[in-house]
Amino acid sequence: MSTRKKISIIGAGNIGGELANLCAQKELGDVVLFDIPAKADYAKGKALDLEQNGAVLGYDVKITGTSDWKDCAGSDVLIVTAGVPRKPGQSRDDLVAINVPIIRSVADGAKEHCPDAFVVVISNPLDAMVYELQRRTGFKKEKVVGMAGVLDSARFSLFLARETGFNIKDIRAMVLGGHGDDMVPILSATTVNGLPISSFVAKDKLDAIIARTRVGGGEIVKLMGTSAYYAPASSAVAMAEAYLFDQKRVLPGAAFLDGQYGYKDMYIGVPMVIGGNGVEKIIELELTADEKAMLAKSAASVQGVVDVVKNTA
Ligand SMILES: NC(=O)c1ccc[n+]([C@@H]2O[C@H](COP(=O)([O-])OP(=O)(O)OC[C@H]3O[C@@H](n4cnc5c(N)ncnc54)[C@H](O)[C@@H]3O)[C@@H](O)[C@H]2O)c1
Repeated sequence: MSTRKKISIIGAGNIGGELANLCAQKELGDVVLFDIPAKADYAKGKALDLEQNGAVLGYDVKITGTSDWKDCAGSDVLIVTAGVPRKPGQSRDDLVAINVPIIRSVADGAKEHCPDAFVVVISNPLDAMVYELQRRTGFKKEKVVGMAGVLDSARFSLFLARETGFNIKDIRAMVLGGHGDDMVPILSATTVNGLPISSFVAKDKLDAIIARTRVGGGEIVKLMGTSAYYAPASSAVAMAEAYLFDQKRVLPGAAFLDGQYGYKDMYIGVPMVIGGNGVEKIIELELTADEKAMLAKSAASVQGVVDVVKNTA
């Protein structure tokens, strides 16, 4: 039996394909691309294409397309992209009715076949979907996270890099709160290699960049007619790698709060330490009064969606 790590990707669409591509190129382990029976051949075709790509690029991992949960058995990591993406004009919350039954069926498959996996949820509306997956599986809360903060912070970083003209590698940005249009950029944690961002970007420019970051996903939906997938996939892979290699990385993402920041029984974006045990710590930052107010607004809108999910039969 192979002792290689196994990464199962649920949903072989745009993000799923790019996830498989990144996991293969980084040789993180063998990859399973799972989709519904109607898309099984599509998943198999994508898997074969990606396996063949290894002959050109020089990686060698096994990539399997399937619609059978048994093929996901024993996964070390599960990355969940199953669901529909937004179309122009739709909010993430508009996706609830369609994506709740999907996330529940994924939760049931995961519970039966992948009980030991570290789970990264990407499907929208993110904070409510990750909450529902954890609730339905009963998996340990530290083993279930949602990907949003890494992506939202990456978008914020890009806009700041372009505005300042500095290399994007030197921009450190932090965005917290729900993955919605009221996400919370934390300016005290947003720096150019430790130097305050306010020394480089005037307030009106910073406000405009924050506004653009908040609708950063929608900007791409408007242009492409569907959701982004390259940066979302890389962001989830960063979280998966932190777990697989016990990297103790400090990453923002949706984690289960049990009193931290004054919130209980909810998933929302916060900085956390991800290592070999999953979420090893949630970092509580000192927030300004403004940031606290923004987080409260964001938490209220996440809770509103979670309540709709809970009432969905
Ligand atoms: N968290 C984030 O930051 C973020 C960013 C971008 C997109 N998203 C979300 O990620 C999700 C996927 O986006 P995409 O662009 O890859 O969409 P996509 O339509 O390209 O792929 C989704 C795939 O999920 C599959 N699927 C549906 N039901 C399934 C089930 N029960 N089991 C397994 N697979 C199933 C579909 O057949 C499809 O192939 C969407 O909900 C989108 O809104 C989240």
